[in-house]
Amino acid sequence: MRLFCLIQLVLLMFLFSCKSDDEVEPSTGSVMVHHKLRPFYHYTPEANWMNDPNGMVWYDGEYHLFYQYFPNGLTWGPMHWGHAVSNDLFHWKDKGIALYPDEQGYIFSGSAVIDVNNTAGFKNGTESPMVAIYTNHGTSSGLQVQSLAYSNDKGESWTKYANNPILSNPGIADFRDPKVIWHEESQMWIMVLAVFDHIEIYSSPNLKDWTKESEFGKAVGYHGGVWECPDLFPLTDNQGIEKWVMIVSLGGNESSEPNGGSATQYFIGDFDGKSFSPESSDIKWVDYGIDNYAGVTWSNISENDGRRIFLGWMSNWIYADAVPESGWRSGMTVPREVKLERKEDKHVLYFTPVEELDNLLDNTNEISQNTISNGFSIDNHPVITGGSYLAEMEIDVTKIENLTISFGNEVEWMKVGYNKSDSQFFIDRSNSGYVDFNNYFRNIIKCNYSPSSTTLLLSILVDQNSIEVFINHGEKVMSALFFPKYDYKYFRVENSSQSEFLHLLNLKAIQKSVIR
Ligand code: FRU
Repeated sequence: MRLFCLIQLVLLMFLFSCKSDDEVEPSTGSVMVHHKLRPFYHYTPEANWMNDPNGMVWYDGEYHLFYQYFPNGLTWGPMHWGHAVSNDLFHWKDKGIALYPDEQGYIFSGSAVIDVNNTAGFKNGTESPMVAIYTNHGTSSGLQVQSLAYSNDKGESWTKYANNPILSNPGIADFRDPKVIWHEESQMWIMVLAVFDHIEIYSSPNLKDWTKESEFGKAVGYHGGVWECPDLFPLTDNQGIEKWVMIVSLGGNESSEPNGGSATQYFIGDFDGKSFSPESSDIKWVDYGIDNYAGVTWSNISENDGRRIFLGWMSNWIYADAVPESGWRSGMTVPREVKLERKEDKHVLYFTPVEELDNLLDNTNEISQNTISNGFSIDNHPVITGGSYLAEMEIDVTKIENLTISFGNEVEWMKVGYNKSDSQFFIDRSNSGYVDFNNYFRNIIKCNYSPSSTTLLLSILVDQNSIEVFINHGEKVMSALFFPKYDYKYFRVENSSQSEFLHLLNLKAIQKSVIR
């Protein structure tokens, strides 16, 4: 018997000494696994620095994603356009660098179109030309101009237009980020351009010669920072009425709305081919979180299936170049379908993860209300320890007082919840892992929300180091990064008396789509 115990003891000691390099034992006494940073299903560059999504266009079965890229470092530097393609918006194939800086300057943000009618005359083969319209940021002058590049082989190779720039600088430092669309009624190309504190609208028959039509925004919207990365597109509401949506990002400061730093607002209104008029002066945000910036929508999808799909850069200029890294920095948000809803006499946008996400859901270890005992506390379950999952739940807003869901491990955690007294959703990442790299990272992220029905659907997407909260089918969204030091292990409702007002619909792991 004594010998048996001795063998057991030796075995135990052996097992303990066999912890992998990744496993550590902080003061809690339990084994913790160092957390790795790469998300499972959000786009990230293989190496080095990325910011804004650019030139998003669908062509011949492929979604193209270009992005602001610095291939020689982990902080912002001379900008290139990186390129990736996907059939389903989740499995991306890297295509290397599409556009390099040139004599006109760095390659800043912009868009891409498919010139089906060959209006610019760039076609020289069987494919419709893919034309990129981007900002060149003059390296010595600091002045910004708009330029063109084109591809006749589905984005594989690119030629810069010989007569760049196609729009020169009128003497304004901030003059950038052209988004170009084809306007069917006037049979013209329309460009929206961010010019310091407003948007300028230009038209062109051929992508090369542009006429200024109007200005928008000096006296409306939020102005706590320079305006950047606009988008303009039509969308039909739930009553069949077509409206136009203008999206504008703004580079704010620490005290900017809604939660500090970079954020993106939108306007709903009418567009007659020349000018945009908003139907209301309310300030509306694409995302009430803190890590969704410079987002715009894919071009040319209507030819495919009519959806309007949005993608943002999942970071914030306040701390983007200081966040923990492992050889690459910054990812994109989950691709989101944009829908227009009429609410009384006003319109609002809803943003929901695109349906392709369903194909990544792993049903193997699914957790549902029936499989949870003890109120609502899930510990050491593979769906949670895996770190990438979707949690969908219904909340009875007539009964619930304070809801706090937390997920974490023995020493660090994230909190997300709702305070009925001030009608506010919140994300608290103040003790989520690495938080000291920037003073603002610990701030509580807030989103006002007054429910209009008795039950409310809450969908939470977690992906290793990000959370995206979709409130009421995406009526409001909150996105935020977090950087655990160790893998998280649990997911629970903090106040068990409140858990009876919450019904878990499902909690499923999300499979890896980005394999690196
Ligand atoms: C937005 C932005 C754009 C600019 C780009 C430069 O994040 O500042 O206005 O084109 O980044 O990388």
